[in-house]
Amino acid sequence: MNLLPSGTCFYLSVVICWLTSRVDGSLWYMGTLGSQVMCDNIPGLVNKQRQLCRQHPNIMQAIGAGIKDWIGECQHQFQNHRWNCNTIERDHNVFGRLLLRSSREAAFVYAISSAGVVHTLTRACSQGELQSCSCDPTKKGSSRDAKGAFDWGGCSDHVEHAMRFSQAFVDAKERKERDARALMNLHNNRAGRKAVKRLMSLECKCHGVSGSCSVRTCWLALADFRRTGDHLRRRYNGAVQVVMNQYGTGFTTAQRHLKRPSKNDLVYFEDSPDYCIRDQESGSVGTGGRVCNRTSRGMDSCEVMCCGRGYDTSHISRNTKCECKFHWCCAVHCRDCKLDVDVHTCKAQT
Ligand SMILES: *[C@@H]1O[C@H](CO)[C@@H](O)[C@H](O)[C@H]1NC(C)=O
Repeated sequence: MNLLPSGTCFYLSVVICWLTSRVDGSLWYMGTLGSQVMCDNIPGLVNKQRQLCRQHPNIMQAIGAGIKDWIGECQHQFQNHRWNCNTIERDHNVFGRLLLRSSREAAFVYAISSAGVVHTLTRACSQGELQSCSCDPTKKGSSRDAKGAFDWGGCSDHVEHAMRFSQAFVDAKERKERDARALMNLHNNRAGRKAVKRLMSLECKCHGVSGSCSVRTCWLALADFRRTGDHLRRRYNGAVQVVMNQYGTGFTTAQRHLKRPSKNDLVYFEDSPDYCIRDQESGSVGTGGRVCNRTSRGMDSCEVMCCGRGYDTSHISRNTKCECKFHWCCAVHCRDCKLDVDVHTCKAQT
């Protein structure tokens, strides 16, 4: 029985393959046909991953449900850019051929997807959605921070557990291949996971006489995923172009005078296409039809976004509230107004 079209995910991050199967509705099959059948029919999984998938169908389901969150974050971070983390529906792999190239963008997608998996699983553990994990059991008793002693209380997010699982699952494929690209993926996957952990913070509640805060109860909490997105976006800006070292065991920088990448940096091999025109080979969909900003001087300006091809302007009227007045007491009355705005969209290549 073949539930999924036999797309190949061979070159792609596992998480991407998983999304493919979600798009095809396999989560629905999971309930009715069991995890055995489902896990056997996700194309591109290596044996180790199939095993983990069968053993932990609930975790798989949680990872699947979290995919829209990290893709949404990726699209938020790049909304004003020529490459906007667009996904291609009806394609076996949702980013098209983009990830085949070892570019800075591929590095970002790997990092944010593995960060997304860690974030999703940690949340699911804390919310009691998975049998295999819950709050961090090591955060018990008392401890100290810069402000003094405190008692552990509440639910500390158990990020270690999520990191272990996602490392085992997401990295399994790369560990099998062991070529240059696999090393790049492993590095960026790890940078993504570490970002989630680094951004955790201690949250506390004060007790004691009239809020004197002489007694504190604290727990370790995940940051909002937006902060992970912002962090990885900065890492994308500072991503380091690398080449394999002469032993094939690690990286050195492509330009000798640059600093060696740390474990937290994103690394990539190949220069990016300019993403101006549709190009199957590089996975660029082009910027034809994208909205641009005529007054901006940044990446979303019509000049940059449209790559010099020019743009079309259309007049659109939007309904808004206007002339709002405050009436004593207490109501605000507005009129409905039509606001005419110009929307500029890039011309497609001819
Ligand atoms: C266009 O860019 C300008 C300058 O950066 C900014 O003030 C304005 O809000 C932008 N307009 C839109 C519609 O985003």
